[in-house]
Amino acid sequence: MYDEKYINEKSLVPVEILDEIDSTNEEAKRRIRSGKNEDFVLVARKQTAGKGRKGRSFYSPMDTGIYFTFVHFSDSSVSDNLKVTVATSVIASKAIKEVLGIDCMIKWVNDLYLNDKKVSGTLCECILKGTYENDKDAVIIGTGINISTKDFPDDLLMKAGSLSEDPIGTSDNIRNDLVVYLTNGLNDFFTDPDLSGYLGFYNEHSLILGKSVELSDASGLLDKGTVKGFDEKGAIIIENEAKDLKVYDSGEISLFML
Ligand code: BTN
Repeated sequence: MYDEKYINEKSLVPVEILDEIDSTNEEAKRRIRSGKNEDFVLVARKQTAGKGRKGRSFYSPMDTGIYFTFVHFSDSSVSDNLKVTVATSVIASKAIKEVLGIDCMIKWVNDLYLNDKKVSGTLCECILKGTYENDKDAVIIGTGINISTKDFPDDLLMKAGSLSEDPIGTSDNIRNDLVVYLTNGLNDFFTDPDLSGYLGFYNEHSLILGKSVELSDASGLLDKGTVKGFDEKGAIIIENEAKDLKVYDSGEISLFML
């Protein structure tokens, strides 16, 4: 079980644990709409309509994973979702290493992989100042981590995995410590939102650096080539088949097998 008292004693931002919610990101938006204007964190034991990127869903059964949303309010425009998303993948990967001793690889932008299966993802959204009479911009960072999730729906069976075969112990602090680490890590990032301190780890743990990939979006294939690195904003640098270096700040990567 989560221990809300333990988590809040160690966290730099208030954390609320919910038993069940449609989506912690959607609940965060409702809180913003009803006037919340200081940073906060929501964590759910279960989500009934967990959301992924690109309109996908995020499978979130009871007590098998972390379903976590951090909301940061800012006076200045914080439209730089890419930077936040890259930083979050580093924070989540370090949290998993610290708490569970497991090394995950990062697939641009922010998917964490273990044994070729996706174990974590982040959906970053932004509510601009004035949208709901909110007088600050709000960045909503929703991270899901499959700790011991099993029985994935058919469409995820081949792609999704978990960090552990075993159910989460009720007497250990795994989930509490992961929540504290994520909360304080994101709070640190927003205190000094410079990606340079995160890129070393990001590169070292990249699943795709130096590999042949295809980049596509909803309209189809954007480019094909070798991943050369990531710039200071987290954009991907690809050397394409014409040997041109191209920088992209969005799109979906697939590993291209030769
Ligand atoms: C992805 O992999 O496409 C992103 C998944 C993000 C899932 C998390 S779980 C907590 C938060 N609430 C949601 O509805 N989604 C995010």
